[in-house]
Amino acid sequence: MTELHLRHPSAPDARDAVRALRPSQIREVANAGFGIADVLPFWFGESDRVTPQFIRDAASNALADGATFYTHNLGIAPLREALAGYVSALHGATSAAHVAVTSAGVNALMLAAQLVVGAGDRVVAVTPLWPNLVEIPKILGAHVETVALDYGAHGWTLDLDRLLASLTADTKLLMINSPNNPTGWVMTRDQQRAVLEHCRRRGIWIVADEVYERLYYPDDAGGARTAPSFLDLATRDERVICVNSFSKAWLMTGWRLGWIVAPVALMDDLGKLVEYNTSCAPSFVQQAGVAAVERGESFARQLVADLRASRDHLVRALASIPGVDIKAPAGAMYLFFSLPGATRSLELCKALVRKAGLGLAPGSAFGPEGEGFVRWCYACDTARLDAGVERLQRYLTEQSGR
Ligand SMILES: Cc1ncc(COP(=O)(O)O)c(C=O)c1O
Repeated sequence: MTELHLRHPSAPDARDAVRALRPSQIREVANAGFGIADVLPFWFGESDRVTPQFIRDAASNALADGATFYTHNLGIAPLREALAGYVSALHGATSAAHVAVTSAGVNALMLAAQLVVGAGDRVVAVTPLWPNLVEIPKILGAHVETVALDYGAHGWTLDLDRLLASLTADTKLLMINSPNNPTGWVMTRDQQRAVLEHCRRRGIWIVADEVYERLYYPDDAGGARTAPSFLDLATRDERVICVNSFSKAWLMTGWRLGWIVAPVALMDDLGKLVEYNTSCAPSFVQQAGVAAVERGESFARQLVADLRASRDHLVRALASIPGVDIKAPAGAMYLFFSLPGATRSLELCKALVRKAGLGLAPGSAFGPEGEGFVRWCYACDTARLDAGVERLQRYLTEQSGR
């Protein structure tokens, strides 16, 4: 062995915290389908429809006009103003000074975590949950503890007392996503009020991931345009950071555009973090964002009506399959349900893609609390959903005949 080896025995690895991150099990299933031509993919969280034409036109026009330069770290003024108007209409007075533009929701989550979390901090998250919210604080060296939703006759519910008990004085941050990916669970206004008051008393930050707020289908709708939001209750200058995205309400997943509503006191520091992460969201994409916010309301409303119809269609179809336990959730765009074989959901989803050409996400991808379930994104036309249900039925029949 050379002297060099003795001095540098370890492999050129990433930091321990990064190596310990969980890889995406959804990706693992998708990789299992690699090379299989005929797969119906319901595993990712996006619609099968393209972004509305008027938004694409706004981006093309902005590019034609030369919008190819860096912008202010916190976003172009017209977009911050437009978002302030949009948020004010939904959740009460919000100034542009409280709004920052980000490179989509996931970047907003990272920035929010970077603002308030450091190595050794205690973070609490409610699960099952889209893995990014749990993994992001870990990148920063924080310890993440989870409080699991319960599954029962009424679908997924939160044991509020258990959550409050977990929010101890030494907790730095609560990360909460409602409407929730993957379960579709929606936090009630009373639960939000109790959590906010509890966190206020203990100085705990709340990062509220509300990217699905418009995808809300309560039974007693009464025309509600959004799910209950922490912004409805919190003042704009307390320890609440609200994360949102253009991806879901305006079908702009590939554009990477989102925003944060946060206390003004954070904005200078947030600007520094944006500078050192991305510097800004792309200029022409921000201009398209102005079109989405200012002219996209009727589109968003129609989308929600379409998604509600797709949800009901898929729930009806799946509920008729023996062994499938399913309840219609009040929000987001997923059904998270149990079926025979799902106690090992990763294996089941790999088998479904290989043997039935059906692409679902395993419940275990959303934490151990999600084991026993699979996630199906229903943001697509009903003929495709029907084809998927037929494949699932055939697969289950074959398995039960063995
Ligand atoms: C709960 C949740 N938060 C945030 C995001 C981020 O979306 P994007 O980065 O596309 O804005 C997603 C995407 O699926 C999500 O499910």
